[in-house]
Amino acid sequence: MTEINADTWTWNRLSRGEPTFWLNSGRPIPHETPPSIGLRDIEDARARWERFAPLLKALFPDQVTDGIIESPLIPVPKLAARYLPEEHRDASSRIFVKADHALPVAGSIKARGGIYEVLCLAERVALAEKIISGHDDDYSKLASPLAREKFARYRLLVASTGNLGFAVGTMGRALGFETTVHMSSDAKTWKKDRLRKLGAIVVEHAADYTSAVAAARSEAAAADNAHFVDDEQSLELFLGYSVAGLRVAEQLKKAGIEVSAKKPLCVYLPCGVGGAPGGVLFGLRAVFGDNVWGFFAEPTASACMLMRLMSQLPPEASVYDIGLDNRTEADGLAVGRASELVVAAVGEHVKGAFTVADDEMFRWVARAQREEGLRLEPSAAAGFPGALQHIWTVPAPEVANATHLMWTTGGSMVPDEQYQAMLARGVALTANE
Ligand SMILES: Cc1ncc(COP(=O)(O)O)c(C=O)c1O
Repeated sequence: MTEINADTWTWNRLSRGEPTFWLNSGRPIPHETPPSIGLRDIEDARARWERFAPLLKALFPDQVTDGIIESPLIPVPKLAARYLPEEHRDASSRIFVKADHALPVAGSIKARGGIYEVLCLAERVALAEKIISGHDDDYSKLASPLAREKFARYRLLVASTGNLGFAVGTMGRALGFETTVHMSSDAKTWKKDRLRKLGAIVVEHAADYTSAVAAARSEAAAADNAHFVDDEQSLELFLGYSVAGLRVAEQLKKAGIEVSAKKPLCVYLPCGVGGAPGGVLFGLRAVFGDNVWGFFAEPTASACMLMRLMSQLPPEASVYDIGLDNRTEADGLAVGRASELVVAAVGEHVKGAFTVADDEMFRWVARAQREEGLRLEPSAAAGFPGALQHIWTVPAPEVANATHLMWTTGGSMVPDEQYQAMLARGVALTANE
């Protein structure tokens, strides 16, 4: 009889579209040369965010009063006490939500990468057009009518399952860039409507996210004065996300939480193409090294990163090739092929990954609201089973002393009608709990 090893068992579940948990055994993952970036580049990115604080304050005075787009770490003792395995309930005080669902301006983790890349472009244009004289000039000048007039001569393009388009579109339009957002078939109508209201051009695609990216990339290549925010390949996006690592390190320090080999930081990150979770993990690793255990969470139908990490399939393979259909209500995570940049930069350092069925995400949307009053969209709740279930099956003594961060990635700006419908589905699914 052939022996079925853990990876074969996991792979079979994965390709049948069943919820799966995979722990990285350290087997090499063939990949391209990693980008040559490190802590210095992340610190540069943080400095850029700081230069832009006066501008962000001027443009969004009600949302970013100190000019910094950041989210709190929230303890979730009620949720943890109710849903941790009984024998691990004493870990409740070490379970946190990193509340990117409430990030100002864009209401999702995409505020980090997407807005950052627009700021990089705005800075280059502002220096070239002499709107500012240098990095120490007053960046609120970028909100002047003169600056808007100059920015209007530049085109900004992006492709998205929704939230990246919303973040880039909001920032791009706030500065006056001509902005085009290519939306994949999964993108929700309200996200397209809001972008149109901001004056962005929205191109709707009948096909999936990968096709929308390809269309936007070729439109940008053929245009003059155009900048394409490339969700699959952009280093600027990646660095924008990575600044979260430095900020979380400060937040943990303030809270008196130690991160060490004996007390690792376990982070559970919803993953689509991989840029957001990959960038965040890269930033955290720049500070904490191997003492960060990063876990990526994907819908069962869109397990593109997990399939890339655990198989020897070539980078161009997609979830369709293994029989998955990439259909999920978790629109932000509806991606069929993972980013090679991310695989090269952090793939081998991902501690594990898991897949979550759509119904399960809706259940966590309801539980997070019921126990802690958190307003999440389904994608944003994908990390919960990692911290509250899977990690406790890992036979490592460090787990019990670890700090666990469930990164909630979007939801605070979902219109009420849509949110109530999602919540109702989760409430119905958890009625017997
Ligand atoms: C709410 C939400 N969570 C997580 C992600 C994952 O980000 P990435 O596609 O960069 O992996 C997205 C992407 O759009 C998202 O919208």
